[in-house]
Amino acid sequence: MPTRPTIVRTLPALRRAIASYRKTGQTVALVPTMGALHRGHLELVNEARKQARRVVVSIFVNPTQFAPNEDFGSYPRTFARDIKALREAGADLVWAPTPPVMYPEGFSTRIEPAGVAKAGLEDKYRPHFFGGVATVVTKLFTQVIPDFAMFGQKDYQQLRVVTQVAKDLDLPVKVVGIPTVREEDGLALSSRNAYLSADERAVAPTLARVLKSAAAKIKKGDPIARAVTVGRAEITAVGFALDYLEARHALTLAPITSGKDGPVRLLVAARIGKTRLIDNLGV
Ligand code: PAJ
Repeated sequence: MPTRPTIVRTLPALRRAIASYRKTGQTVALVPTMGALHRGHLELVNEARKQARRVVVSIFVNPTQFAPNEDFGSYPRTFARDIKALREAGADLVWAPTPPVMYPEGFSTRIEPAGVAKAGLEDKYRPHFFGGVATVVTKLFTQVIPDFAMFGQKDYQQLRVVTQVAKDLDLPVKVVGIPTVREEDGLALSSRNAYLSADERAVAPTLARVLKSAAAKIKKGDPIARAVTVGRAEITAVGFALDYLEARHALTLAPITSGKDGPVRLLVAARIGKTRLIDNLGV
């Protein structure tokens, strides 16, 4: 019978718990989340358990990565259910700070990532986003000092940004990317799927389907530009407002016109009703 994870809400309590693991030489993996946990998050926890003796999951809806017009206030908060799921998944510790614990009065430092964080993808539509993510993830890394940190490929640009930040700041953590967990019809699991109406949910798998077919065409030698143009039309035809569908170099996120120029990653963001969805796929 799995035991309930320990929940800590203050830094001294977190430090005591981590120190007790370290004292006996136990390795630690961190899974940063904003809660509203689904099978995608729990897959990160499963992988974390394979990598390290102790698994710490942070649950913090980070205000600094939301713009004023975004869904910070309405973002789903399901703490009791999350704890139950984490108990089943075998997490050891839940780090659940309040905003004033993470950002006390007078907090005035921000990590401002460049490079992959300025690729013209998510950053173009959510300019505040990666500064907020990099700041909170750096704080999480320095608070927990994990050996491993698990991030989903679902948020592909975020994974690249966090990897670069950890490298640039010499943080002693190995960032591990985990493949996207999907519904049976291909839709990538996301806390924001809860916003979709039944009609919107029915067309939502179009994003994954388009990524898959464009990737297959590029793989067999079709020009990237043509595959992407067709994909864009298919996405808007079912009622999405498209932010972007782009082919990028999988590591640098620079635009790429030929599969010969390196590994290709297809990335998409599109809005339907009041919901914005993102997805991506390697070629
Ligand atoms: P959140 O959206 O809660 O996601 C937490 C982690 O779960 C991220 O690494 C994300 O990529 C991963 N994830 C989400 N859906 C997934 C899926 N379908 N398959 C696999 N992994 C999935 O991303 C954030 O929170 C925040 O920006 C955070 C990194 C916690 C910083 O605040």
